[in-house]
Amino acid sequence: MLTAREIVEKYIAFFEKRGHKRIANAPLVPVNDPTTLFTSSGMQPLVPYLLGEKHPQGTRLVNVQNSFRAQDVEEVGNSRHTTFFRMLGNWSLRGDYFKKEQLPWIFEFLTDKEEGLGLDPHKLYVTAFSGDKRNKILKDTESGELWKEIFKKHGIEAKKVVLENEEKAGKVGMQDGRIFYYDAQKNWWSRAGVPEKMPAGEPGGPDSEIFYEFDEVEHNPKFGKFCHPNCDCGRFFEISNSVFMEYLKQPDGSFTNLPAKNVDHGGGLERYLCAHENQSDVFKTSLLYPIIKALEQVASTSYEKHAKDMRIVVNHFASAIYIIAADVSPSNTEQGYMLRRLLRRGLDSFYALKGTDLAPIIESIVNAYKDTDPLLLEKYEHIKASILEEEESYKKARVSAQKAIDKELAKKGIRRGDDLTSVLEIPADLAFKSTASYGLGPTQLKSLGYTFDDQAFAEEMKKHQQLSRVGAEKKFRGGLADTLEKTIMGHTATHLLHQALRDVLGNQVHQSGSNITTERVRFDFNFDKKLTDEEIAKVEGIVNEKIKKNLPVHFELIPTNEAFNMGAIGLFMDTYGNKSKIYFIGGSNPHPNPLPKGEGDHGRAYSIEFCGGPHVEFTGVLKSFKIIKQENLGKNQKRLYAVVG
Ligand code: ALA
Repeated sequence: MLTAREIVEKYIAFFEKRGHKRIANAPLVPVNDPTTLFTSSGMQPLVPYLLGEKHPQGTRLVNVQNSFRAQDVEEVGNSRHTTFFRMLGNWSLRGDYFKKEQLPWIFEFLTDKEEGLGLDPHKLYVTAFSGDKRNKILKDTESGELWKEIFKKHGIEAKKVVLENEEKAGKVGMQDGRIFYYDAQKNWWSRAGVPEKMPAGEPGGPDSEIFYEFDEVEHNPKFGKFCHPNCDCGRFFEISNSVFMEYLKQPDGSFTNLPAKNVDHGGGLERYLCAHENQSDVFKTSLLYPIIKALEQVASTSYEKHAKDMRIVVNHFASAIYIIAADVSPSNTEQGYMLRRLLRRGLDSFYALKGTDLAPIIESIVNAYKDTDPLLLEKYEHIKASILEEEESYKKARVSAQKAIDKELAKKGIRRGDDLTSVLEIPADLAFKSTASYGLGPTQLKSLGYTFDDQAFAEEMKKHQQLSRVGAEKKFRGGLADTLEKTIMGHTATHLLHQALRDVLGNQVHQSGSNITTERVRFDFNFDKKLTDEEIAKVEGIVNEKIKKNLPVHFELIPTNEAFNMGAIGLFMDTYGNKSKIYFIGGSNPHPNPLPKGEGDHGRAYSIEFCGGPHVEFTGVLKSFKIIKQENLGKNQKRLYAVVG
């Protein structure tokens, strides 16, 4: 049996042997990407290259990417959903290879005993795209034919079945075939989902997925008369997705071809492990079961009796640990808010299990994952301290929440009376409002001595989720649509701001984060004092002067050491082998080397920064720059908000 780490090693080696270069695991919190809070797939940091930009490491790439999918938080608790997972990915860029290489390769990786996972091909089922008339995208017959050939080599007669919709899926099932055609709901992939949901400028394409069959799981007719790969009964498990990224959404809603065809393949490591171990419960695999065992000990109860709460604890704390390792602290906004939510939901379940000591759980999670992520060990003390600190503040929050809720209720004539331990019956909308206002889960609210109608509470929650989903979609669209315009301007503004802050406050100033939306630029940096009005005016003045000069912006790939020697600043991360992508504002192209810093004319650059891009070509595009707000983030950290244009 292979361990999770061995699976990673095999996958990387398999694709390296076929000409792929390994790229680094990108940070879990993307830098300068306003469209999303977390890296949620291996392709996310590669979008510019899927759109046609040249990747410094070539046209065949492979990696393992830590990924977090915030939208799955509410789903955790069943046997297969995890918010945090590792994605094994391989890519073909700029028209290198396509379907006829990708499909046989990935099948070989899954089934080969020497080079891959050694899965039984009889347990694998595949899907392909049935076409989209409205968007004039044809049925993917090529994948179907390729799959037929592939199965034939393994002695399997693979029949094709078209299941365009759920209704048809109810009429024919897996007993009739092995290659299943579905429509865009199931077999189209883009970051935004189906073709209609994609914003202009977004790449996407039909995909072909591979499912593993757990034959010990009986089909549940609740999900339809017949079972089929995309049935939700649990018998089939999607383990691999090869996306044929060849389309680009246009502002008028139509689709055109990308400059070249790409392959974007992703497979969940945890899911590969399930298939390899023939284990339909991801929490019972060799990776996660030791954590469940630790939990059984701490909580003195069994997984069988309390599976849901135990799964939530394992998954939420694992996600939280990785998010803390990405330098996020619990807070009430963005990544920090998600972290807080995970920790508090995890604590709710931990308390429901009557757990008291979290430390052994944190330790067992770090132990399980340290094989592939030794960084967790380096940051162990910090991770533990952050979680325990949040637990303390949650405990305090619960006490003050109880007081505040009681006070609210008293205004409505609902009183606890003299007996403080008595239970108060409250309306569902009030209960929901209380959970939302005080960051409590429903279980926690009950443990504070309130009771409410569960059904009505669930309905309130559903209403709220629909609202926030609409909000999230808006944000996603807004951000991406503007990748081409305003956010690129904002991105260049952060480089000017970074250098200008150093000019005014001193070179000890470094960027610690940034976030760009269509409305504003947010920039975090280390500095111990509040900036004075004069300092702010000075910084603003410098940035505006650089905008007026209309300095050229360009990048070069430079040996990383050399870049450091040049005084390149910024979050050092876009490293390709031993070279880094460096953006210059001002100066000639190509750059004289070594590079003195100065005014941005006479061949000298004003700003030299490690960065993945993209940027405007000339600073004049920014038109103007204004700092609108300053915030103190504590611990020697300041935050500025600014607007451009
Ligand atoms: N990007 C594809 C996915 O996330 C591979 O499923």
